[in-house]
Amino acid sequence: MNYSEEELIREAFQAQKRAYAPYSGFEVGAALLTADGKIYGGCNIENASYGACNCAERTAFFRALYDGERDFSAIAIVGKPKTSDTFDYCAPCGICRQVMAEFCDPENFRIILARNEEDCRVYSLKELLPLSFTGSSMKETQNPND
Ligand code: THU
Repeated sequence: MNYSEEELIREAFQAQKRAYAPYSGFEVGAALLTADGKIYGGCNIENASYGACNCAERTAFFRALYDGERDFSAIAIVGKPKTSDTFDYCAPCGICRQVMAEFCDPENFRIILARNEEDCRVYSLKELLPLSFTGSSMKETQNPND
């Protein structure tokens, strides 16, 4: 990856400032790195009809996908309540993990959960979404051990 984890985390903090979260007060930012080194930021965007809320990670993915991007290397995620001064590791929700599974390599895609630029935990998609359901799960012959 051309970008360092630190740089990607910095971009996620920039994105977090754009969060629209008047209902939960929990503000999240994500920075998605494409295989060719572009970064797409995303923030959570809430709605009075709660089911219409969109997570920061999916905002970043959908922006990139609309631009035609299909190869992704990593995503950095940061989040905290508006009222708090410190960030704790913010793990992606199940729906966001499923969106990642549609487009990202389970072994190689890195998910970076950061408290600050120096303090982060890095996971593969496979670690956060084992035994995932994907397009290949619907093929007639499949080996569950694959
Ligand atoms: N949220 C995200 O944007 N990403 C996560 O990884 C966890 C949750 C948002 C959704 C909602 O706007 C708020 O955080 C509280 O769930």
